[in-house]
Amino acid sequence: MSATPLRLLCLAGSARNGALSVRLRDAAARIAETLGAQTEVLDLRALQLPLYDGDHEAAHGVPDAARQLRDAIAAHDAVLLVTPEYNGFPTPLVINAFDWLSRLPAGQGTLSGVNVTANKPVALLSSSPGAIGGLRAMNYLRQYLQMAFGMLVVPRQHALSHAHEAFDAQGSLKDEKAEQAVRSVMQGLLRVAAALRTPA
Ligand SMILES: Cc1cc2nc3c(=O)[nH]c(=O)nc-3n(C[C@H](O)[C@H](O)[C@H](O)COP(=O)(O)O)c2cc1C
Repeated sequence: MSATPLRLLCLAGSARNGALSVRLRDAAARIAETLGAQTEVLDLRALQLPLYDGDHEAAHGVPDAARQLRDAIAAHDAVLLVTPEYNGFPTPLVINAFDWLSRLPAGQGTLSGVNVTANKPVALLSSSPGAIGGLRAMNYLRQYLQMAFGMLVVPRQHALSHAHEAFDAQGSLKDEKAEQAVRSVMQGLLRVAAALRTPA
């Protein structure tokens, strides 16, 4: 890896107290830091984006918070997105934020939402107390981010099953295999990001 650390934006699809996806996001971010990345968390709930509504958009335009998300993605070399699973799908928090992002047009000197996501490397993780670990949601998310946003979703991913039992008191993954699986995902992401980074 080059001397300047790769910048990794870390997102989770839930923000509730004790969210398993937040715990996995933070554990994965720490792993990425051991691999030399510089990480930053963006709390999607804190953006306070309204539920997407065409009438709202017609009356008020795209909320500034969508620009915040766009600018955060633009400022980073890669993105980590950890999703929970609601009825087999990614959560509304994720989909709503990215739907708003897709509505941001290009402005003077600024790129549109989807121009910022295009060819941006992203790694996916999912978490659930269940046995499948949110895998179905993650697979839908892969398709959504690739097809609608042109993101480069790295091939490796990991669905953390029984996530409510997966972390120790420090927030690290207890199971060595799970830790290694997440490490592999982060290595794959940082490798792609390093290859794509334009020299400073
Ligand atoms: C509306 C709803 C639907 C859910 N559907 C699923 C599901 O399809 N598969 C699954 O494994 N867990 C499902 N769950 C359980 C979540 O995995 C669990 O609540 C999880 O802790 C949520 O993620 P978080 O801890 O990051 O907030 C569902 C939970 C809710 C609230």
